Amino acid sequence: MIKNCFSKAMHFRYACKHFDPAKKIDEKHWRFILEAGRLSPSSFGMEPWRFLVAESSSVKERLRPLCWNQAQITDASHLVIYLAAIENVKPASGIPAKRFARRPLPPERIEAYNALYADFMAETFTDDEKTFAWGARQVYIALANMMTAAASIGIDSCPIEGFEKEKLEAHLKIDSKKWQVAVLCAFGYRNETQPPRMRLSLEEIVEVLE
Ligand SMILES: Cc1cc2nc3c(=O)[nH]c(=O)nc-3n(C[C@H](O)[C@H](O)[C@H](O)COP(=O)(O)O)c2cc1C
Repeated sequence: MIKNCFSKAMHFRYACKHFDPAKKIDEKHWRFILEAGRLSPSSFGMEPWRFLVAESSSVKERLRPLCWNQAQITDASHLVIYLAAIENVKPASGIPAKRFARRPLPPERIEAYNALYADFMAETFTDDEKTFAWGARQVYIALANMMTAAASIGIDSCPIEGFEKEKLEAHLKIDSKKWQVAVLCAFGYRNETQPPRMRLSLEEIVEVLE
């Protein structure tokens, strides 16, 4: 039964280009979608994300020119701007220690996590660009879960990478040393026919190692 639901959602979801501007997602359904983002996994359990939500027409209209003028921005019911953490994933911020402290582990294990994480960060993330790339990878997991969750209750979505990052961050007054925009997603109800799915076959993308 669960398998059937998931498969239906995967087939229902597509990148919706024309949303019905008159149809709004109700609060209960919207929370269900947000919960799918909140419950998503992240490397080290860092949860390096924030979801900025634009619902009002005036906010969405201001954002549209910064997003390649895509109609989904204004026609969708809800728009999410996904931020990836820069400052909060650095050990010096104190946030990683807080994340690890939540774990039901003895203090010495927590300390070991902090040390491992600090080493990992120092070796791997030598600048904010690399830190952003790592955070964005986590954000995309939340994005995917939210799109599938939405599809499971008949709500459409369109992930959006077509935006001007620096201009959008400036418009939203985001300090890029703390947060950066990774991706956007429009959610709402389709006003078009779902196009046929184009995908490579499993044979083309799966290789069994021997
Ligand atoms: C990360 C990401 C960014 C995307 N950005 C845009 C976008 O800016 N505008 C748009 O219309 N579609 C965008 N798409 C939709 C893709 O073009 C679409 O998912 C792909 O062609 C496969 O089609 P389907 O999702 O309908 O199966 C994006 C998809 C992803 C995953």
